[in-house]
Amino acid sequence: MITKDTLHKIIEEKLADYKFIVVSNRQPYTFEYAGKKIKCSKTIGGLVTALDPVMQASGGTWVAVSSGDADSEVVDKDDIVKIPPEKPTYEMKLINLTKEEESGYYYGYANQALWPLCHIAYRQPTFYASDWENYDKVNKKFADGVIKLIDKEKPFIWLQDYHLTLSAKYIKKKNPDAIVSLFWHIPWPNPEVFRVCPQKKEIIEGLLSNDLLGFHIKYHCHNFLETCEAELESKIDWEESSVTYKGHKTLVRDFPISVDFEALSEMSASPEVTKRIENLPAEIDHPYDIMAFSVDRIDYTKGILEKIRAVDRFLEKYPQYQGKFIFFQKGALSRLHIKTYKNLIDEIQSLAEEVNWKYRSRSWYPIVLVNQKIDYSMQLALCRACEVCMVNSLHDGMNLVAKEVISSKVDHKGMLILSKFTGAARELKEAVLVNPYDIDNVADAIKEAIEMSEKEKQERIEKMRQNIKENNIYKWAAKFIGELIKI
Ligand code: G6P
Repeated sequence: MITKDTLHKIIEEKLADYKFIVVSNRQPYTFEYAGKKIKCSKTIGGLVTALDPVMQASGGTWVAVSSGDADSEVVDKDDIVKIPPEKPTYEMKLINLTKEEESGYYYGYANQALWPLCHIAYRQPTFYASDWENYDKVNKKFADGVIKLIDKEKPFIWLQDYHLTLSAKYIKKKNPDAIVSLFWHIPWPNPEVFRVCPQKKEIIEGLLSNDLLGFHIKYHCHNFLETCEAELESKIDWEESSVTYKGHKTLVRDFPISVDFEALSEMSASPEVTKRIENLPAEIDHPYDIMAFSVDRIDYTKGILEKIRAVDRFLEKYPQYQGKFIFFQKGALSRLHIKTYKNLIDEIQSLAEEVNWKYRSRSWYPIVLVNQKIDYSMQLALCRACEVCMVNSLHDGMNLVAKEVISSKVDHKGMLILSKFTGAARELKEAVLVNPYDIDNVADAIKEAIEMSEKEKQERIEKMRQNIKENNIYKWAAKFIGELIKI
């Protein structure tokens, strides 16, 4: 098993002569004013959940966009601050964007063109030339920020995600010897879907400036290779899984991302979380015997509306659960300047009200929506204690909530319902797998998960725990770095 310490050693041995730089849109920690004080908090999202422990083990510099209103107070003249503040292990360098750049690059091209293009959730992508211009400009800005960090040491640069498809091209232009790689955290669609993108050539060319490209699963690697074959005059080596374009070779590999299993299990078993579990009925302040729990960023790809419809169908089909069962949905507000996201919040709210009205009796109603922040120990308490956890994404690269839930289940109680259309479903085969679009299928799955014998639940949870324990986040990082070192 690869642990934080083993990864630390691998990096010390193999990357001693390199400068390790991770680059992403989202910053791992933000500094915000809380009255006159400055508060530092860890940001949400799969990417930060996965990479923060890796950076804590490896050290180095993480370059990201500044979004905290007090960030500028804590950085030095090069926009660098050491993090996490309580025990600094690495540096964060912040990039400042203008409002126009942020609108075009983040809210525009990244999240209204590439996000819906890559997720099959039936939302049409929109492509505006002005968004693309800002996206290109910001990708260059990121590259310039990275280049400034490079001195005598050979750089080892690890870009993250769909926000940064063009940065490798700009970095390589100035530093052809730099080792540059990118991990793609979302699905890669098939060529038929990708061909509608007006900037498809530039995007693929940008990605092929990397020496190594990582995806969660083989299927996405395959889609990417097929897209290159369809769109560019490039040489695809299917056996090696590589693309050679204009004399430069890019390796394409699958690296299923994961979580820090040991740390999560330990936190979940802590007296603090155990106490929260004892107090759950009071904290939830809502009568229930059986709880299904979900935690998602409020995003149309997460299938939240479909889940509420399935709960409705479950209570209709199996009325013996009325008055006893609740579905506790924790939602994290996200990308609010995009209309689709704002509208989704209203749609979720009104559907929940409709369903609650249908079944309400005395003080019981089935759907409990919470959009305010809940602290992490409470989230772990809910994950560990719930009878059913539902991860019902319509499409998801991996989905780390599924792996967090299993890591939290230290007493092997409860069951996970998991969408077949997540990367996680390829590993967590012992979960109750569902088609999230199929409302009756999900309604029946809720019943199956509740009524499964304790013994079967324990066995299934244990198998999934062993899998995540072995294939943890440190193994993911070690495999990626190991592959890159070979180059
Ligand atoms: C997805 C992306 C991540 C991103 C996360 C949160 O999982 O792949 O790169 O960090 O969503 O999204 P946000 O837009 O809030 O950074």
